Order: sequence, then structure tokens, then C-alpha cells
Amino acid sequence: MRMYDIIMKKRNGGALSKEEIRFFIEGYTKGEIPDYQVSALMMAIYFQKMTERETYELTMAMAHSGEMLDLSSIHGRKVDKHSTGGVGDKTSLALTPMVAACGIPVAKMSGRGLGHTGGTIDKLESFPGFSTSLTTEQFIENVNKIGIAIMGQTADLAPADKKLYALRDVTATVDNMSLIASSIMSKKLAAGADAIVLDVKTGSGAFMKSREDAFALAEEMVKIGKNAGRRTIAVISDMDQPLGMAVGNALEVKEAIATLRGEGPKDFTELCMVLGSQMLMAGGKALSVEQAREALTKVIEDGSALRKLSEFVEAQGGDPTAVTDPSLLPKASMVVPVCADRDGFVGRIACEDVGICSLLLGGGRETKESKIDLSVGILLEKKKGDAVKKGDVLGYLHANDEQRLEAAKDKFLNAYAITDSRPETEPLIKGILQ
Ligand code: URA
Repeated sequence: MRMYDIIMKKRNGGALSKEEIRFFIEGYTKGEIPDYQVSALMMAIYFQKMTERETYELTMAMAHSGEMLDLSSIHGRKVDKHSTGGVGDKTSLALTPMVAACGIPVAKMSGRGLGHTGGTIDKLESFPGFSTSLTTEQFIENVNKIGIAIMGQTADLAPADKKLYALRDVTATVDNMSLIASSIMSKKLAAGADAIVLDVKTGSGAFMKSREDAFALAEEMVKIGKNAGRRTIAVISDMDQPLGMAVGNALEVKEAIATLRGEGPKDFTELCMVLGSQMLMAGGKALSVEQAREALTKVIEDGSALRKLSEFVEAQGGDPTAVTDPSLLPKASMVVPVCADRDGFVGRIACEDVGICSLLLGGGRETKESKIDLSVGILLEKKKGDAVKKGDVLGYLHANDEQRLEAAKDKFLNAYAITDSRPETEPLIKGILQ
């Protein structure tokens, strides 16, 4: 078999066989097929798409490209959670301590930023000293001891996805349904949880911009999960504007901490409640949404979710005092307001552009090797539907570099459409599939 023929077959619209898919996944994982050929194949897949069968075979080949974790030594029903990616999506940071405080063992594998979206691992590294490079033994031990551990993708776990994820990030081949579904589900299957709750984003800040595409992606992932014998639930949620008010690594960590104190933005808190309820029910800790919401509210009110975050940060080498004193998290040297240039209402926020604005400030990667600046980002002051007067602050840019700041300012201002009438409000939750 030759990689050249596989690229050409897909370029011409053919469906790849199981053997062809395995060949390129195995070859790429072993380093026998170079990045440039796989980039070409990713682009061909991007344009020609994959069938449901190809997507399933790709998922399985990626899941089996490394070790399949055995979490049976962790007591209780393990429930994993994954988002398809968004702007200001710090959900895992608040949600995992909440559900862990309710008694669900959280053994989660997370990723880094991808395209215009952020990643949990980058955000967690805002805690001074925090490490997500755990051995499997440490990972399991931490979950058994404190109920929560989050690690980065190890070299052994779905290594094909690890390589493809980094490659897609810099070759404009992220937003393809089959590539997203296989990337997420291969990791989730290899990571060994009993049940999987997916947060599928839709809107201008999501990879799946249209509602139809988001539902199709959700359906595809639920089907893959079920075929692989895992209970899989997908919540389809709004990403037509940033989630919460903070975008950027350390800024989002601060917002997640505020949320665990019961002082978080309404939309973000509600999303945590909805996803958390599904996780508690899938994990057998609640029989109904009402019961689950009650339990989640209690762990915020009695401070146990916030304490769980401190325990988790400390167990992974981070400084837990940053949880009680978020001023210890990385801070940018400049905080600059961007103001509305007319009266009206925020009619639309080009959400992807807000994500790109954070990238321009240095909060994301331009190449696989780029180092990111954890302190930069944006704190929004206005969201969709808010009334604004000329001169009102739309958001504050947190920056460390004048040149980057200038580029980001324009992007941010242009992301806001100020209209004469108040826009219709979009529901945060579009649907739940299982
Ligand atoms: N999250 C992933 O893990 N992979 C994708 O391709 C997109 C979002």
C-alpha cells in the first residue's frame, strides 16, 4: 500500500477501506509517513468528507493506535466529559470539581488549544507549578484518593490523535465533522470511562457553525460511543457568542474559580448545571435532573466544589493558594478598554473573531512549536442583547505587547455589530441526544 494512492483516492472522492485507514494511522503514529503527506490527506478529507463507516473506522484505528486505559481499579462509575471546542469555554475547570464533589470519579484526559479555541490543559497550566504529565499509575491513584485527575494526552494514549490534532491545528483542517468526531471519540474510548457526556457547540465560535451540522456531529459521536459499548450523551449548546465573560487562559481560570464561589456568569453557570446533571445521572448519583441540580447547587453553596479544585491543583503540583487568591495567577502588563462607537444594542458578536483576538494577543499557537502567553485575553463587558451607549466599554484587552494589542483591538471592535433593535435571544441549550 502507498500513502500516495490513499491521498489520491480521497482527493478524487473515494471512500477509504478499513485497511487503508489503518495503514495511514499506523504509519503516521510510527513516524513512517511524514507530516506533509498526512496534511494533504487531511485537506482531501476536509473537502471530500468521510462516510459514517469511514469515520467509525478512523475512530477505532486512532483509539487503538496506543494503549487502551483500564480504569477498572477506580471505584465507581467513571464519567468523562468533552467539548467540541469554543471561545471562553472553561467548562471543565468548574464542572469537574463540581461533579467530583458530588461523588463522581473524574478521570479526564484533556487537550490544548486548537484553532481559535482554547484547551483545558493550557488553562490549567496557569496555576504555577501545575503539571498534566501524569503516569497512568499517578492518574489512577489521584482519582482514587481525591476523586479527580486531569492529564494531557500521553504519548501512549491515542497517539495518532495527538499528532493529527497538532497537525490539523496549523493546517486549517480542524472543522470537519469526521475529523472532529474521530478525534474526540478516539481519546474518550481510549481513556476508558464508562460513560461520556459531550458538549457539542454550535454558532459563530464553534467548529460546527450551523445547528444542522452540530446535531449531525452529535448524532455521529453518540452512535460511535454506543457502537463501542459506552453510554454517550450529547448536549448541543450555544457558541454564537463567547461563554461567560472571560476569554484567555488565566482569565478563564479566574472566572471558573468565581463560578465555584457562586459568583460566575449566568450562562456559564447554567451550562455547568446542565452538563453536570447529565454526568451525575450517567454516573448513577442522581435519578432526575432536579435531584442532580440540587446536588450541584449544594456543592457550590457549601464550598466543597471549590475545595475540590484546591485539592486537585495541589495533587498535580500546582499552587493551591492561587485558588483562594487568584491574583497569584499570571497577569498581563496592559489592560486596555475597547469602546462602542455608537449607541444601540449588541446585535451580534462574531465569536470566532473574539477567539482569534485572543490568539493575536498571544494566547494561542501559530505553529506546533509556539509558546503561548497564559496571561493575555479579553474580559467582555457586553454580551449579545445588551444596550450600549457610544463610549461604553465593550471589553478589556489584556496584553503584553503593543503590536499584538493593535491588531487585536481592530479584530475585537469589528467582532461587535451594534444594531438599532435588540436581537432575539438564543437558547443556551439547543438539545440533548442520547
Ligand atoms: N476537540 C478535539 O479533541 N478534537 C477536535 O478535533 C476538536 C475538538
